[in-house]
Amino acid sequence: MSNIKRIAVFTSGGDAPGMNAAVRAVVRTAVYHDLYVFGVYRGYDGLVNGDVKRLDVGDVANIIQRGGTMLKTARSEAFRTPEGRKQAYETLVAHDIDGVVAIGGDGTYTGADIFMKEYNIPFVGLPGTIDNDIFGTDYTIGFDTAINTAVEAVDKIRDTADSHNRLFFVEVMGRHAGFIALHTGIGSGAGAIFLPELDSSIEELSETLRRSVKRQKLFNLVIVAEGNKNGDANEIASQIKERNPEFDVKVTIIGHLQRGGSPTAMDRVLASRMGHSAVKALMRGEGGVALGIINDKITFTPFKDAIGKTKSLNKDLVRMAEILAL
Ligand code: F6P
Repeated sequence: MSNIKRIAVFTSGGDAPGMNAAVRAVVRTAVYHDLYVFGVYRGYDGLVNGDVKRLDVGDVANIIQRGGTMLKTARSEAFRTPEGRKQAYETLVAHDIDGVVAIGGDGTYTGADIFMKEYNIPFVGLPGTIDNDIFGTDYTIGFDTAINTAVEAVDKIRDTADSHNRLFFVEVMGRHAGFIALHTGIGSGAGAIFLPELDSSIEELSETLRRSVKRQKLFNLVIVAEGNKNGDANEIASQIKERNPEFDVKVTIIGHLQRGGSPTAMDRVLASRMGHSAVKALMRGEGGVALGIINDKITFTPFKDAIGKTKSLNKDLVRMAEILAL
């Protein structure tokens, strides 16, 4: 028998496609097990301000296919303060909530970790971010949709790049991590990929481009992660143009397009599995852990590790991308 009777769920940080599918899974698993579920609106801000509403099965109907998050989201300043967290605790107590599912990225986990050191209410975290940069999981909710959106966009850019013999620098999201860029680059067959984790040389790219022109190789797509060390796509493009004025260079920033849209089937299934497992974890008395998926198995990582450890890029994939771009 579980001591957990009433749980809350919220989404926090940047939205990610599949968050709705996760909320749906949390609500339906909880209702199946005779728990009461409360949706908290606008992430931690909703906890601080008491923006909480009871959710039932019907409230999460017709959302599995929707991007964004029905619970809204925010990056809360108030929750960073002890007073804000006290108010959040009072909201949870007022609704008799004895377990919380927090869906978001490492900022969300950091908030939950701090809160759990101060108050005795268990949180479990679900990795909801397009960046895929969370330690303790092979994939985050929203990543698959984001890379599919980016690849589709790059395919379209390729058509016009090919037609005009233009060189395009396409910037994708990922402030601190290159997972989106790496997968988009491989998936779209880009000629080069600039990642925040690596020191790439603009001079080397410039030479590769010149060689490819000599070989009459069609090389017209470079993917740049937004957090790349050599600068953003505009910066790299202008440095290449300076070195090679004869190139017809263009820049496209895909931007927030990658954050929206209907989640892929992979993201819906991942989110459903994680949402379902999160409720069961709370019922087993677990807390202070982030769910992940590793080798197709649901895993649990203490918040401390999920926040403190860095997920590395797969070096083999990076090398493979270079070889395939030959
Ligand atoms: O963390 C997800 C993400 O989309 C990053 O890739 C991007 O750098 C950031 O959020 C942008 O955040 P916002 O649009 O909320 O300022």
